[in-house]
Amino acid sequence: MLRFVTSNAGKAREASEYLPVELRQVEYDYPEIQSSSLEEIAIAGAQDAYEEIGEPVFVDDAGLFIDAFEGFPGPYSSYVEEKLGIERVQQLTAREEDHRARFRAIVAYANSEGIETFEGVVRGRIVPPRGEGGFGYDPIFEHRERTFAEMDTEEKNAVSHRGRALAAFGDWLTER
Ligand code: IMP
Repeated sequence: MLRFVTSNAGKAREASEYLPVELRQVEYDYPEIQSSSLEEIAIAGAQDAYEEIGEPVFVDDAGLFIDAFEGFPGPYSSYVEEKLGIERVQQLTAREEDHRARFRAIVAYANSEGIETFEGVVRGRIVPPRGEGGFGYDPIFEHRERTFAEMDTEEKNAVSHRGRALAAFGDWLTER
């Protein structure tokens, strides 16, 4: 059995589809360090949660990285979503020539041997909002002609950054 430290039950449900072991969601609110690196944030979170819980745990951290802005908002994605809103992020990007962006997710797994990280990336471009589904930046992130908000959960999971990071973690667990 593996513990996934997240306050998001939807994420925990999604993760169980990728991992070859039984999952338990743990609602421990670990302090998020400030860093421009998703890896550093995830590693610090996994380390803190492992020390608190005393059993192997994993956490995830994700963000939207816009090429024209050198990866902004990246690790600050939820703060920027809250303060600017996704429409303004789209409008700012529309003024640039390059509209490419990617979502990145890092899964960090901590046990007595240390910490392992797994990355998932999905490339796309920033477009005016379309679609009703998903959350966060999904309506302005287009991947292969459709925004993430126009995909159903299964389709999005099959290509998403989080899905890819969890799949890599699942492969690693299976190999061990
Ligand atoms: P978290 O680390 O997964 O909680 O993600 C941090 C922030 O990144 C979220 O609040 C969203 O703004 C954004 N984000 C992460 N993953 C996604 C996604 O799959 N779709 C849309 N926005 C996302």
